[in-house]
Amino acid sequence: MSSDDTIVRVESDSPSRTQALARGLARWLRPGSVVCLRGDLGAGKTLFVGGLVQALGGQGPVVSPTFTLENRYAVAGAVRELVHVDLYRAESDAVEDLVGSMIEARSDGAVVTIEWATPVQERLLPYLEVVFDMVPARPQSRLMALNANPVGWKHHEAVRAAWLAEGVVAT
Ligand SMILES: Nc1ncnc2c1ncn2[C@@H]1O[C@H](COP(=O)(O)OP(=O)(O)OP(=O)(O)O)[C@@H](O)[C@H]1O
Ligand SMILES: [Mg+2]
Repeated sequence: MSSDDTIVRVESDSPSRTQALARGLARWLRPGSVVCLRGDLGAGKTLFVGGLVQALGGQGPVVSPTFTLENRYAVAGAVRELVHVDLYRAESDAVEDLVGSMIEARSDGAVVTIEWATPVQERLLPYLEVVFDMVPARPQSRLMALNANPVGWKHHEAVRAAWLAEGVVAT
């Protein structure tokens, strides 16, 4: 995905602000939406998924699927289910199973979220991508970019407005 696909960049200065940004995205997700989360260990990917689950009317707590590889949350409304996958520790056989399971879940109308998705991302087009960059000088800060493949998603302006309205500093 090229940087031309960036919808909006903001700075989150706290975990709660990161979750507010997740809520700002959640209302524009649709059955079958895929959200890839990219960033270092501890960047806030799982926390962001927690914000999505909460905003979609699901029950937390959202915990890392680092060992279980995949967690599923029932959510309210048209989406019905949010699938949360973490490929960080997945062996290649497991990755293949998970890709199949994600494609099936998407076609059944779930929202699919994936941490450490880079090796399989192109097989999950179209997708949204949230990229987290740490800011060494500010431990509570994350530079966050929302990217979108241009195909199949028409809410760029709405989400840009939602993220900017959270009051975070645009960078
Ligand atoms: N602005 C911020 N946004 C998100 N998390 C933050 C922020 N500032 C501090 N944190 C802290 O960073 C940690 C993020 O943890 P989280 O499990 O969400 O990361 P992760 O990206 O999923 O990591 P991993 O790759 O290990 O799964 C939490 O402890 C959270 O409190
Ligand atoms: Mg995580």
